Amino acid sequence: MTERALEGRRVLLGVTGGIAAYKTPELVRQLVERGADVQVVMTPAARQFVAPLALQVVSRRTVVSDLFARSEGAEVRHIAMAREADLALIAPATANLLGKLAHGIADDPVTTVFLAVTAPTLIAPAMNDEMWRHPAVAAAVERLEEWRYRFVGPEEGFLAEGYAGVGRMSEPETIAATLAAMPYSTIARAGGGAPGDLDGVRVLITAGPTREHLDPVRFLSNPSSGRMGYALAAEAAARGARVTLVSGPAEISAPAGVELVRVTSAEEMLAASQRAFATADVFIAAAAVADFRPARRFDHKQKKATLDPHLELEPTPDILETLARDKGERFVVGFAAETENVIASAHDKLLRKHADLVVANDVGMPDIGFAAEENQVSIVAPDGSVIELDRAAKRTVAGGVWDAIVTTRKA
Ligand code: CTP
Repeated sequence: MTERALEGRRVLLGVTGGIAAYKTPELVRQLVERGADVQVVMTPAARQFVAPLALQVVSRRTVVSDLFARSEGAEVRHIAMAREADLALIAPATANLLGKLAHGIADDPVTTVFLAVTAPTLIAPAMNDEMWRHPAVAAAVERLEEWRYRFVGPEEGFLAEGYAGVGRMSEPETIAATLAAMPYSTIARAGGGAPGDLDGVRVLITAGPTREHLDPVRFLSNPSSGRMGYALAAEAAARGARVTLVSGPAEISAPAGVELVRVTSAEEMLAASQRAFATADVFIAAAAVADFRPARRFDHKQKKATLDPHLELEPTPDILETLARDKGERFVVGFAAETENVIASAHDKLLRKHADLVVANDVGMPDIGFAAEENQVSIVAPDGSVIELDRAAKRTVAGGVWDAIVTTRKA
């Protein structure tokens, strides 16, 4: 993913009282650098290890460490803070925090807020190695994992006690990168668990533009960046899917855990997609495939003087339509970039291309869709019903699209 993988995301950071809390200003800086808007809540014990002012300066937000303080807002502030979070993180998480969270005890600002969190939550434990090995801590971790809390670390290293052992909090950069790879589901879940609702599901996604060459240096193409397809792949992998991403030329690296197959032309995209489609459960056609290609392709660069200014074109294969024609049990999703009659045109495309859902973009609107950071889409179903998603970063939109796929597949 891009460096600013947390663009526009509201991250709630809970800081509890361990020596590793001194690393949290750097952690906040790493999150802000990735585009996150960070709200810090800390326990009184954490204030012994890191100054609230330091966290306030790096997060550019008031740090909450006393839920009853008048200056920190109304009585139900902890519910608002929990609800506003897109992603939540506890770092460092002490043995005390793990024990309390696993038993529903809310007696300090962090546990009180985090019991009300429904966003995917990452926990970075830090403690003495003997404490980490204690069966009570191991049981709490197991229980929290069952509730789909995710963990990063602790790692082996030099502990505050002066010897090496397992218990060190992961480095801020590792924690920030792990958080950035978390699922972005918009469906709230009790227990703050991250969804694993695509566990074992095999997914094929096409992404990016295609290039239809006239000769080695000239081609027909379009400005698609591939970002939407890559975001869908990253989100699916984060939710447990096995993803094959067939991508035309795009300047994005492969999302973690995704098999990336690079292709150039529509013809190559079709061939690579056919192979992956054979074993896929879900197919999303997010690529902006060129509709036409030069009828004749030259192996050598043509001289300007000899080029015919009238280019003869022929249609490229329609990958979505070709594959979906024989889709069997597979769930198929298409994209529709429209400028007029967006919903009606998308619905027409859905029927014509045998899709189960079509994600419609109004590409006439400024700053969304093609090659943009953000997107705003409507998801159209065969019965004509429409789910409107809010305008958001493409990774957030990807979360909403997957929520719609998961819900519709089950129905
Ligand atoms: N698509 C495809 N192969 C193509 C063209 C399109 O797989 N050769 C897929 C796209 O990935 C997208 C959907 O079809 O999921 C819609 O593409 P679009 O180009 O809008 O469809 P067209 O049939 O060309 O519609 P229009 O008449 O609006 O151009």
